[in-house]
Amino acid sequence: MALLAKYIVHGGNKLEGEICLRGAKNSVLPIIAATLLNEGESIIHNVPHIADVKVMMDILTYIGCYAKMEDGTLIINTKNISSSEIPEDFVRKMRSSIVLLGAMVGRFGYTKISYPGGCEIGPRPIDLHLKALRQMGVEIEEIHGFIHCTKDILQGCDIHLDFPSVGATENIMLAAVKSKGITKIYNAAKEPEIIDLQNFLNAMGAKIRGAGNSCIQIEGVKRLHAVEHKIIPDRIAIGTYLIAGAITGGKIIINDVIPDHIQSVISKLKETGCEIELIDDKIKLVAPKILKSVENIKTLPYPGFPTDMQAQMMALMTLAKGTCVISETIFENRFKHGNELIRMGANININGKFAIIKGVKKLMGTKVRSDDLRGGAALVLAGLAASEVTEIENIHHIERGYECMEKVLNSLGATIKKA
Ligand code: UD1
Repeated sequence: MALLAKYIVHGGNKLEGEICLRGAKNSVLPIIAATLLNEGESIIHNVPHIADVKVMMDILTYIGCYAKMEDGTLIINTKNISSSEIPEDFVRKMRSSIVLLGAMVGRFGYTKISYPGGCEIGPRPIDLHLKALRQMGVEIEEIHGFIHCTKDILQGCDIHLDFPSVGATENIMLAAVKSKGITKIYNAAKEPEIIDLQNFLNAMGAKIRGAGNSCIQIEGVKRLHAVEHKIIPDRIAIGTYLIAGAITGGKIIINDVIPDHIQSVISKLKETGCEIELIDDKIKLVAPKILKSVENIKTLPYPGFPTDMQAQMMALMTLAKGTCVISETIFENRFKHGNELIRMGANININGKFAIIKGVKKLMGTKVRSDDLRGGAALVLAGLAASEVTEIENIHHIERGYECMEKVLNSLGATIKKA
């Protein structure tokens, strides 16, 4: 078996400098799915070069679409799709490919897609997705690990989500764009990526309003047309690099930021003593001499503190003065990085959905293993601040969502290489 790539980090450098990052992973994935509804050409700018985007492009190519990426611009033409089935391998590689379900049913009235199993951060059911599609009149059969969806014309209806699931909201929006009548989603997810999806769909002729609020209304249309769109900034990548500045006692500026999208993270970073300045679309962070612990961090749906920033914030708390309690309310099994941080000398006590972190004076570099995307990023952050060398194994998880993390960090003065 080929050896999996790892990062080798020589810790202790203060990160200083200015960076520009590409658009949001969680925005571009459903938007790529949305291109399936459009028989014309879609041009998408500000697309990150990350493994998850590559998987989506491979799926589109597999089913007969044209997909080409150059320097952050993705051109997709879905006119000649020849298959409405998504094989198991792809869904296994990327669980969020389930967002293709709504788009495929919307385009063909039929799809067969592998059932996504659990993943590193716990079971990830799709009951809300399927219940909503059934409400729209789709017949769904689950046979031998595959979901078969059939319906000629989808019927708009009122859907109340038991939980504001991001993926379910996106799947319903995608399925409803070309349906008959009006669909209303109550208790919809309010994440900025949902607004970006609405903007993309409307730019190609859909009639959607309300994204960003808890009720979204989609009026079905018959036809869509070619579209050009720029993906919003990646609030999670931005938050991660802000923490890289904070944990190393550094000073960094990030360009092209929408401050509103990262308010919950900014607020917690200020509690640690970081100075944060917002100038137009730039954010500047200056770390304090001594980081203070944040008393409580509770992950919640947007605009609450994002579960996708929990691991990185835990890494920061390992070196802050005082005690922090993190409650993870979104995913069941999202503290695996805690055990790796303990191997580096952190004082963390994990109990169910709570983690108590008592700040220590220093972390020691060692071999650690990344189990998921954000957990992996947290280990890199810890390595940047640790003494000596940290080796982070399994970085393919990190590459799913961060474009050339080692290059970005080295440009800020870190010493990290991929091996
Ligand atoms: C999306 C993001 C992910 C982020 C998460 C929460 C993408 C590609 N991924 O994932 O990075 O961490 O939102 O902000 O955008 N649930 C059910 N039944 C369902 C659907 C969800 O019980 O049918 C539960 C999940 O198990 C989880 C919670 O709802 O506990 C949140 O999931 P959801 O908002 O759907 O997250 P994803 O869309 O998978």
